[in-house]
Amino acid sequence: MLISLENVSKTYNNGKIAVEALKNINIEITEGEFIAIVGTSGSGKSTLLNILGLLDKCTEGTYKLNGQDIGNIKDKVKAELRNKNFGFVVQYFALINDYTSFENIEIPLEYAKVKKSKRKALIVDILEKLNISDKEKVTPKELSGGQNQRVAIARALVNNPHVILADEPTGALDSNTSKEVMDIFQGLNKEGKTIIIVTHDVNIANYCNRIISIEDGRIVSDVRREVHEV
Ligand SMILES: Nc1ncnc2c1ncn2[C@@H]1O[C@H](COP(=O)(O)OP(=O)(O)O)[C@@H](O)[C@H]1O
Ligand SMILES: [Mg+2]
Repeated sequence: MLISLENVSKTYNNGKIAVEALKNINIEITEGEFIAIVGTSGSGKSTLLNILGLLDKCTEGTYKLNGQDIGNIKDKVKAELRNKNFGFVVQYFALINDYTSFENIEIPLEYAKVKKSKRKALIVDILEKLNISDKEKVTPKELSGGQNQRVAIARALVNNPHVILADEPTGALDSNTSKEVMDIFQGLNKEGKTIIIVTHDVNIANYCNRIISIEDGRIVSDVRREVHEV
């Protein structure tokens, strides 16, 4: 089992008000799955994705990554596990505005302490894979939304993580560009990457072979399905 969540709950405690964002979540994720997490705004999707990606921790329950309980591991080890296993993509790309595509994609390689001499080849490869080799030297404001999302996906992939976590990755894109981005994810999934996407768009969820619906912090359905080429 790649990831297992057992009776996971998450309560945010900011001052006086406690928000129970996730309640008793049980999920098992196998390598190679392509999963959509769907639900209305405020249902707990991002909280769940952040816990899955080790960006946040649950307040109750057990998280196992490759069988290892990560509940009590040190922050430094957790950060290493995060960098090694997960690539993140978000709605508004989260690119650094005055960095070129190349420099943005280089960031996770710096974190992973990849030697400068080895970085270039990795970045050139990934730019090519995402069809943006000609955008290497430009900054985000010179690119369209779809091109920026490609740069962001390249950044998420450059460390060759096992799992891509994407929070509303098409939320800021028109429908044609969304389809292009989903085709990229579909291709990556075919190559073996595990992909987990948060969305409230049915068309996006239809790319996935498993749809987990959450409402008010609880899983209300978890369905595996056949995917026909869209
Ligand atoms: N950092 C936070 N502090 C307090 N409450 C939060 C925080 N993040 C999210 N919440 C609350 O947790 C619930 C779930 O939020 P979220 O996971 O962002 O939902 P979604 O991504 O489905 O819109 C919401 O009620 C939200 O207001
Ligand atoms: Mg969200």
